[in-house]
Amino acid sequence: MNELDLDRITEIEAVSFKSPWSKVMLAAAMNFSGSLNFVLEENSVLSAYIFSRKTGSELHIINMAVAPSFRRQGLGVRLLSFLLQKARDRDATWAHLEVRKDNLGAIRLYKKEGFVIIETIPRYYEDGSDAYRMTMDINEYPDKSTHRME
Ligand SMILES: CC(C)(COP(=O)(O)OP(=O)(O)OC[C@H]1O[C@@H](n2cnc3c(N)ncnc32)[C@H](O)[C@@H]1OP(=O)(O)O)[C@@H](O)C(=O)NCCC(=O)NCCS
Repeated sequence: MNELDLDRITEIEAVSFKSPWSKVMLAAAMNFSGSLNFVLEENSVLSAYIFSRKTGSELHIINMAVAPSFRRQGLGVRLLSFLLQKARDRDATWAHLEVRKDNLGAIRLYKKEGFVIIETIPRYYEDGSDAYRMTMDINEYPDKSTHRME
């Protein structure tokens, strides 16, 4: 991921979330210390992205989306899988994330990849919605990605 990807990421972000991050917020996340961010391209089209931050041995996944026309084709799993393996290579042991309680598709994806719900966080989002916090032991994650990403 680099600065040239920001316009397309902002476009996908805008159609993927109720309260999308602005380009400025996304640019800031790109440069967080300890950030591990990746995009996935299909036929040279940026189709998905993931932002995360590694602090010590913990990886916090802070944002992830797949462009609508590319959903349900396994890209979300590929990207998450790639990130988890990169994080493991850098000695991360735990991954965690927050997800809206009603985001059933994302919750299903995370569970499929081994995340478990550990708590509900009331009113986590600006609009008053609750979140689940989910976590996983990265060392338990199988080595399965063969894709190159930038
Ligand atoms: C959630 C999201 C990233 C999933 O990406 P994706 O590329 O479509 O996911 P995949 O194709 O890898 O799906 C893997 C599995 O997750 C589950 N899943 C994904 N989307 C789903 C949906 N809309 N409904 C039900 N299950 C879903 C399924 O089990 C799916 O496997 P299957 O297609 O074999 O049934 C995508 O829908 C998205 O960008 N949503 C908007 C942004 C968002 O919610 N991000 C997560 C914030 S925490």
